[in-house]
Amino acid sequence: MRGQHKKLAAFIFIVIFSALFIFGYHKMKTRGSDGKLEVYNLHQVVTADSSVSRTIMWQASSDYPKPLVEYREEGKDTMIKTPALSQIFTEAGNTSYVYTAEIENLRPGKTYDYRIGYEANRGLWHKMQTPLGSTFEALIFTDSQSASYSGWKSLVRTAADKHPKAELVLMLGDLVDNGEDVQQWHDWFSDISPLAENFPVAPVLGNHETYTLKWKVRMPEAYLHFFVLPKVEPAKYQNQFYSFDYGDVHFMVLNDIDKEMKAFQPDMQKDQIEWLRKDAAATKKKWKVVMVHKDFLQYGFLTRNTPRPEGFSDEGKAYMPLMDELGIDVVLSGHLHTYRRRVRLKEFKPNPQGTLYLLCGLAGDVRYDRLWKLHKLDAYVAPQPETDNYMTMKLTPGSMTFNCYLPDGKKIDSITLRK
Ligand SMILES: [Fe+2]
Repeated sequence: MRGQHKKLAAFIFIVIFSALFIFGYHKMKTRGSDGKLEVYNLHQVVTADSSVSRTIMWQASSDYPKPLVEYREEGKDTMIKTPALSQIFTEAGNTSYVYTAEIENLRPGKTYDYRIGYEANRGLWHKMQTPLGSTFEALIFTDSQSASYSGWKSLVRTAADKHPKAELVLMLGDLVDNGEDVQQWHDWFSDISPLAENFPVAPVLGNHETYTLKWKVRMPEAYLHFFVLPKVEPAKYQNQFYSFDYGDVHFMVLNDIDKEMKAFQPDMQKDQIEWLRKDAAATKKKWKVVMVHKDFLQYGFLTRNTPRPEGFSDEGKAYMPLMDELGIDVVLSGHLHTYRRRVRLKEFKPNPQGTLYLLCGLAGDVRYDRLWKLHKLDAYVAPQPETDNYMTMKLTPGSMTFNCYLPDGKKIDSITLRK
């Protein structure tokens, strides 16, 4: 009897061990699947004109042959294939296989079905849609950097549920807490997948994207590989700053983490300003919106003994005169982990004809509880102590409205510009 018990115990042990081994191995080998294909971190990225083109990106754990994206207009039979490029990128001992397909010649105002393929194998169908005219809704998030990404996941789901017509995601930097931590990137992409698989994302580079595992500053290699963005001149700044059109809006996305990047690119600010002047002069769009990571105002500390006068940040001093010069309607920023709407500003002073500076609050779990004083230019401050929040941008033929929401979807602020 005792021998039989031993045999049974050994049998159960082998079954459990085998199950754990197989499950663990499978999980290690296939981080995500798309039907029968190994595909993870699938996301759409904005192009210079999202009404006629789209960039589709994803990752896998190896270099699969003949990667492609296959797509067709909803309800139509004609299938079109675009080959994808694969890049192998290694950082901090982790190798990422990153795939990029650049789709051209789409028709404005249409919905498409697309799927990933390797050779003759195909993944699941996903949606993509192209804007038409001047009506659309975008979701805006910033500072999703987290110790645990569960709050970010929940905020994304609330925003997606409450705003089912949103079709564009603006992300104002510090997507992850540590830009070299591969697991954080997987968490970030996995949590935003209900949006990013179906709508284009327009990201801004944040200072946390530059950090190594040892919290030193490096070029933000992971970010630069994971987001293939519209072309920029000089080409050495590719994927750092860019512009794109969406509906009646020309968006200019700047790299304002000048301090972090200066050691690697001493001329970046000067070159970016030159590019921005040319870029803004070339657009005929009705609205001009700038997206940056670091806010242009400086706030005093409420709960730290370090003196820090209220005023304008170094980034603000460098870029705000350009906002006046170029007639920028709105500047969207993040970095301070608090939602603030400020009075409109021109030449650093309140002016109803000036630019609207909106500071988006946090979407992650790094909270700066009561860190900042009020600023005399604040027109609205989110309830304190502050929780996560997200924003929307709604465009109609004559107006642009920004709303700010708490994690339960309750609206706390709204501002409309008319033109
Ligand atoms: Fe930041």
